Amino acid sequence: MKLETHRLIIRPISLTDKHEIFAYRCDAETNRYQGWVPKTLQDIEAFIQKVSKQVNVPETWFQCAILKKESQKIIGDVGIHFFDRDNKQAEIGCTLNKAYHNRGYATESLSSIIDYLFSELHKHRVIVSIDPENKTSIRLVERLGFRKEAHFIESILVNGKWVDDIVYALLRADWAS
Ligand SMILES: CC(C)(COP(=O)(O)OP(=O)(O)OC[C@H]1O[C@@H](n2cnc3c(N)ncnc32)[C@H](O)[C@@H]1OP(=O)(O)O)[C@@H](O)C(=O)NCCC(=O)NCCS
Repeated sequence: MKLETHRLIIRPISLTDKHEIFAYRCDAETNRYQGWVPKTLQDIEAFIQKVSKQVNVPETWFQCAILKKESQKIIGDVGIHFFDRDNKQAEIGCTLNKAYHNRGYATESLSSIIDYLFSELHKHRVIVSIDPENKTSIRLVERLGFRKEAHFIESILVNGKWVDDIVYALLRADWAS
């Protein structure tokens, strides 16, 4: 699997990406709304080894690196969770290196991933799970046309603290229109 947009390349993550990915994933302040922040390079190695090697396998996470075409540098990553046993639904999540925020790269890469999920993998529904305090992520999914479907109260335990969770969703029919 390899996707290409105007400015970006999206391809499966590999162990050789570990240094570039650790450099921004370890930023605990920027990634404060995420359930997991690596503390060591070994944490990232274990993460890369654990994700599925194959795309579209039910009940697994598949992880892609986002590269800038012109520099071939990794600017972030996108995870796809094939959570549905019938394999018709997926969850996505995006993390960008702080140096590349506010330039439309997340919107551009997620648009391409969503296209791929609906057109190539024939998914019916794509969801995103977001901490209600994560305003940039909320703007991102609303810009992409996701609909807010649920606000769960203290439904996720993050670092020993119960936090709320908002679920946004997009149907294939929404995207097509
Ligand atoms: C979530 C995250 C990826 C969003 O990144 P982002 O930079 O806000 O999103 P984009 O890359 O799409 O950039 C969009 C912004 O760039 C602006 N922009 C600037 N130049 C642009 C261009 N050429 N094209 C499009 N948008 C552009 C847009 O106006 C928009 O700003 P706004 O939100 O104030 O309206 C980022 O905040 C992040 O990595 N956070 C940490 C990890 C995290 O919490 N992930 C969420 C897991 S669900």
